[in-house]
Amino acid sequence: MIPLVKTLLPSKKVLLPRLEKILYSGYIAQGESVDEFECEFSKFVGNRNCLSVNSGSSALHLALILANVQPGDEVISTPITAEPTNTVIAQTGAKIVWSDIDFETGNICPDDVVRKITAKTKAIMVVDYAGIPVNIQRFQEIEEKYGIPVIQDSAHALGATFNGKKLGNHFQYTIFSFQAIKHMTTVDGGMLCIKDDAEFERAKLIRWFGITKGKCRAENDIEIQGYKYHMNNVNATIGLVQLENIDDVIDKYVDNGKYFDRELQGIDGVELMNYYPKSQPSYWLYTLKVERRDAFVKHMANNKIMASQLHKRNDVHSIFKGSKCKLPKVGEFEKKWVHIPCGWWLSIKDRERIVNVIKKGW
Ligand SMILES: Cc1ncc(COP(=O)(O)O)c(C=O)c1O
Repeated sequence: MIPLVKTLLPSKKVLLPRLEKILYSGYIAQGESVDEFECEFSKFVGNRNCLSVNSGSSALHLALILANVQPGDEVISTPITAEPTNTVIAQTGAKIVWSDIDFETGNICPDDVVRKITAKTKAIMVVDYAGIPVNIQRFQEIEEKYGIPVIQDSAHALGATFNGKKLGNHFQYTIFSFQAIKHMTTVDGGMLCIKDDAEFERAKLIRWFGITKGKCRAENDIEIQGYKYHMNNVNATIGLVQLENIDDVIDKYVDNGKYFDRELQGIDGVELMNYYPKSQPSYWLYTLKVERRDAFVKHMANNKIMASQLHKRNDVHSIFKGSKCKLPKVGEFEKKWVHIPCGWWLSIKDRERIVNVIKKGW
């Protein structure tokens, strides 16, 4: 079976000596390797304010805290995502206000977001679902016009670009996840990219109990609520080794994605996704809209190819019942949406076979 997602770790020969060195160095907590990882990641993304954390979820929570989201506030979000995007909003005590999506991309719809802004809206959560960048131009205008920070959940979109610039630079806050099956894994981990230098300093404090690292404990006075969200030297070491090869890895996803964009055109029962102008997806998953989705998934499985919707529309979870509202485009998308494998593990033969199997019909 060709899997839909797969963990990529560097070879033992490359990774294990580096891990051994750090594991027995006497310093496995947050230290120099973490600083180095942030520095290399900053170069990769092109934003100097990159703060590593222990998960993408922690990065999202930190962003919501920086945006000053409090119990009773509202955060506009999309149900087409993995659950952590929204469970983390619930964690703050804020109310999620669902926005509908653009059917053509599966991503949150700027016009519907504008309709749902109220005096209580404290943040707008946008997700580059499956690696397709959101409508960045429109959301930048909204962030500017309404003075409401946009949190970009780019957990699926490492290496994707808008206007030639990598995601991680376009909004007040962008997060990445380094969980097991993402473009890049550190086993678990995340990154928060911040626009504003002063906020970056505040984020460092919140990341670690509200304590200033490097200052003696006796001189520290905790003034704000902090958390244990930091990355450690072991995960950072894995990240450093992964970064050495990340361009090639992302290129493979993009090359496969572009191949499917070309080869899957004009097939009965298949609708391809659109991308917003000037944006380049990083195709963490390849998304399609298909007629008779269950039959499609079965047909692919019969041919040893895993296809799946992978996520469930988040608004139907009981925990979010207080936010229920009509989302017609989500409803349409939900009936048809499916992902096929697109990552580094596909050989040229594999991707040709995937296209041929789809062309046969189901
Ligand atoms: C869209 C999205 N946002 C956030 C997260 C949370 O990331 P993590 O698992 O690193 O906490 C995930 C991943 O699992 C995700 O897919």
